[in-house]
Amino acid sequence: MSVAALIPAAGSGVRLGQGPKAWVTLAGESLLSRAVAAFEGCVDEVWVGVAPALSARAEEELSGRARVVCGGATRQESVYNLLRAAQAEVVLVHDAARPFLEAAVIERVVAAVRAHGAASVVTAVADSLIEAASGRVVDRAPLRAVQTPQGFRRELLLAAHERARERALEATDDAALVRALGHPVALVEGSSWLFKVTTPADLELARALAPLWDA
Ligand code: CTP
Ligand code: MG
Repeated sequence: MSVAALIPAAGSGVRLGQGPKAWVTLAGESLLSRAVAAFEGCVDEVWVGVAPALSARAEEELSGRARVVCGGATRQESVYNLLRAAQAEVVLVHDAARPFLEAAVIERVVAAVRAHGAASVVTAVADSLIEAASGRVVDRAPLRAVQTPQGFRRELLLAAHERARERALEATDDAALVRALGHPVALVEGSSWLFKVTTPADLELARALAPLWDA
């Protein structure tokens, strides 16, 4: 089965406050370039979705390493645009904002998609959890934090997105849309390395880790 990586990278990075986040650099390399590099040699094609005003810049900077499409106003729209462009049988959706992705994780997700049709990387929650309003403790043992990559048979994810559009459903991840179709999603173990660069503190951490990762 052919496999495509779909990288939504069209966000404006409001919480980070440093302009479009995909162009923020770690050790001189942009998050966008790092996300593309993580898939090189692991998949048949790589697609990135970027803000329309930055698509020419992405084409130039990636120079043939990935195909570029215009992202949308939400992450979900950006993924939908990527899905319509790519034609591979399996798609792996991965946030440009998660720079530390190992080949072994990609392999685990692809294997789970081949077996089950849909798979998401998740990780156990380390912190205690409470409901803010009541202070009530929430048992964290059965809970998982959802990371990316998430992998799907392309036709399944396309059907999930089409249905979400018809019903005006919005989700922050693709597996939720597939579950809403009634299709189960296999869970694959992720890691702390897959944290998302969201806030300035996350960026400081990522910049401190990049030399270790690159070594
Ligand atoms: N994303 C996208 N299109 C959008 C919004 C987000 O492709 N319209 C992408 C981001 O570029 C990122 C991923 O979805 O790779 C996860 O989004 P997030 O971490 O929320 O990034 P931003 O939306 O850029 O950040 P913020 O919410 O702080 O503005
Ligand atoms: Mg966002």
